[in-house]
Parts: sequence; structure tokens; C-alpha cells
Amino acid sequence: MAKSSSAFTCTACGAAHKKWAGRCDACGEWNSIIEEAPLSQGPGRGLGAHKGRAVPLSNLSTTEPPPPRSRSGMEEFDRVLGGGLVPGSALLVGGDPGIGKSTLLLQHAAALSRTGRQAIYFSGEEASAQVRMRAMRLGLADAPMRLGAETNLRDILTTLEAERPDLAVIDSIQTLWSDTIEAAPGSVAQVRASAHELVTFAKRRGVAVILVGHVTKEGQIAGPRVVEHMVDCVLYFEGERGHQFRILRSVKNRFGPSGEIGVFEMTGSGLSEVANPSALFLSERGQPIAGSAVFAGIEGTRPVLTEVQALVAPSTLASPRRTVVGLDSGRVSTILAVLEARCGIPFAGLDVFLNVAGGMKVVEPAADLAIAGALLSAREDSALPPEAVLFGEISLSGALRPVGQAENRLKEAQKLGFTQAILPEAQKVEGQGGMAQRRIADLTGFVGEVFGAG
Ligand code: TYD
Ligand code: MG
Repeated sequence: MAKSSSAFTCTACGAAHKKWAGRCDACGEWNSIIEEAPLSQGPGRGLGAHKGRAVPLSNLSTTEPPPPRSRSGMEEFDRVLGGGLVPGSALLVGGDPGIGKSTLLLQHAAALSRTGRQAIYFSGEEASAQVRMRAMRLGLADAPMRLGAETNLRDILTTLEAERPDLAVIDSIQTLWSDTIEAAPGSVAQVRASAHELVTFAKRRGVAVILVGHVTKEGQIAGPRVVEHMVDCVLYFEGERGHQFRILRSVKNRFGPSGEIGVFEMTGSGLSEVANPSALFLSERGQPIAGSAVFAGIEGTRPVLTEVQALVAPSTLASPRRTVVGLDSGRVSTILAVLEARCGIPFAGLDVFLNVAGGMKVVEPAADLAIAGALLSAREDSALPPEAVLFGEISLSGALRPVGQAENRLKEAQKLGFTQAILPEAQKVEGQGGMAQRRIADLTGFVGEVFGAG
């Protein structure tokens, strides 16, 4: 058996290291590696120490019904989960401090309790009185959910064992501590052990458990990524500071599609659901403006229209600015390079600012054409047709590649009053959809067709 010595763990991703280093090889994070006492391996714990039992095996065909789900009535939340909470599932809700996780989960637990299910919310960060005050402000004071202020894992598990609610919210996993582990609350060892016990409890008793985790930039506090692999469902609550919109995004879901989003707006009285995000993200549109392009995107299973905005201005800097918010900056650099190399339109000597309106993040390659459209429109100071949406992926050769779910994109655009779509020539569209389709083979063709120049 290996000699037990102290081990080093990355607080960002949980990777184990033999020795300390300034930077974690696994995730690239700096100053995230800390020393930890090893977990003791008792005698006889190794493989082959005792005989196991034969595991019953089955085939893949099943007559089992899909898992029953509890809908909370908070539609945006239920959708992100794939139709509601699955009993016995473990979820992680991660996000920056102050983004609104506690508010979201308090509202969700209250909504669920109003449907007749039992919900308990454990707060480790705020006193009960504080949470009650917030609930009052959110108009939730009459919801039949219950509240506990506790950070001791043993006490929480004992309470849950006695109560067996349908949902337990733990806010946050980084405040929990278990007396069986010799490490500070928030350390990788504590967070991992606490999460493991709660997940095991969830499975054994059929209680849905939601763990809240703060995203941490550095230091001794373990980030939510340490528990991502243990839970059934990982949700991130994101938004730009200074914007009121918040997006709940599923990055992993064992019971439904991942990549699904729910959109909320932070108001003076809590989070309100945004049922039609396209209308919201486009709400600032009026007159045709140079530098603006509407992208018909897909988020999860839902089409969402967003506005890509570009500003191009002469630069006084030796290496001009490339400021990108809400888009992948690598993708933007590629598109700038393709415009220069394939269409002969240089951006050298020009500062470029790109932004997605409303604080939305767009990661789909299908947004390429809208990005190119916004850039060209800003550079030429010529507005794109205001009744048009754009989508299509740009390859390095400058060709436009078709993307998935064209019908859904067109349908959503039509619903919002757009009458024209600019899309790749090779794009297959089932059913016309009532939209005029301007089909374009490559970026040079796009420049000629839309801006009347080569
Ligand atoms: P909170 O849920 O405490 O964030 P987290 O748990 O992710 O740290 O929310 C914090 C912010 O939300 C706080 O800065 C104020 C804002 N907020 C509102 O704007 N309206 C509200 O009704 C509430 C409860 C919070
Ligand atoms: Mg909080």
C-alpha cells in the first residue's frame, strides 16, 4: 500500500497533484493549489481485499415510465430542468457572488411549496431573520416552506432524515462543515465530502437536493467545479453586472437536455420570469442603425433573437483595441481575419467594439454571419435591412456553412415581425415559413449583396 503523505489539490478543478505548483496543469488556474491532509485508507479497503457480490445486469429496453417531476410553476426554472425537479436528484447552482442565487432559490422553493410539496431552505450565509425579511420583501412570507440557518452537515442530515422533504436547498455548499473532516469550511476536502454525503442522501431518500456554489476566482475556497461530477444537474446563473437580466443555463443534465436557458429579470421585488426573451433582447431597436445585426439563435431547445452591436473607429494605438462582450473573442478575431484575407476588407488601424445587447452570451458558431454583418455595417456606416435576421457559420475559406434548426430560427423571427432572413446558400429549410430568404454562398457574396460593394 502506498505510503500516506500529504497531497495537493487544486481548489478550482479538484485535480490532485503530487507537489505544490503555482499553476494547475489541469485547468490552468493560478494560485489555486493547496495542501490537504490525505483521506485515510483503512486496511482491507483495496481491491481484492474481499470478494464482491455479482451485480445484477439488465438490457437496455425498458418499460419504466420517465421519472415523475415536480413542477414549481416557476416556468423558466422548470424548463431549464427539463420539465421540473426529479425526486432524488442532486443539483448544483453555481454563479458569481451577488448575482442572485439565493433570491432565485428562495423563490423557487417557495413556489414549489405552494404546489403542495415540502421544501426546506438551509441558509449558511444569512441568519433566519435576514432570509425572512427578504422573503417578506419578495412577497413570499405566506409560502408554506421552511427555513433553517445551519452550517453543520451532521445536523442538516439529521433534520432532513426526520423531515424527508421533497426539496432541500443548501445555500451554500462552501459554508458547510463536517466534524469528520479536519479541514476548514470551504476547503476542497470539506466541500467534496459534504456534497458527497448530501448527494448520497438525495439518492437514498428520494429527496431532491439543490447545492448552491459560489464561483471563486482564487484562494482557499473550493469552487463549484469540484462537485460538478457528483451531481445530476449543473446550472449556472449568470448575467452582466449593471444589467438586470439573469440567465440560468444548464451545462449538464442527466434528466433532460443541457444548454437550456431560463431568462429572468432582477427587479426591486426579486426575479421575475421573462417568457419571451427575444422581445426583451431586441427591445431597444427602433430606427435602422449602422453596426447592428439581429442574430436568430438557438439556446437549448428554444430560439432566441439577439442583437449584435459593433462600433468601429480609427485607432490611435499601435495595436488597436478589440473589445468583445458576450461573444467568443477568438471567433471574432477569426472573422476579422477572414474579412481581411478573403474579402480584402482590412480592420488594421481600427478599434473594434462588439457587444451583445442585454447582457446575453452567444456561443453558437451560427452567429458568425451576424457578427460579420455588424462589423461590416459599422465599418461602412451603412445599416443592414432592419427587417432582416441573419444566421450562418463562416469557414476559414470565407464560405457560409449551413447550421441546425433553421425552421425554428425563422419561425421565431417571423413571430417578432421580421420578414427577411439572410442565410447560407446551402441551408436546407423545411417549409417556407413565410420569410423572404436571401441565400448567400460566401462572405464576398454577402458584402456585394448587402452593401453593394466587392
Ligand atoms: P443574492 O440572491 O443575495 O445573490 P447571491 O446569493 O448569488 O450572492 O442577490 C444579491 C443581489 O440581488 C443584491 O445585490 C441585490 C439584488 N436584489 C435585487 O435587486 N432585488 C431583490 O429583490 C433582491 C432580493 C436582491
Ligand atoms: Mg447568497
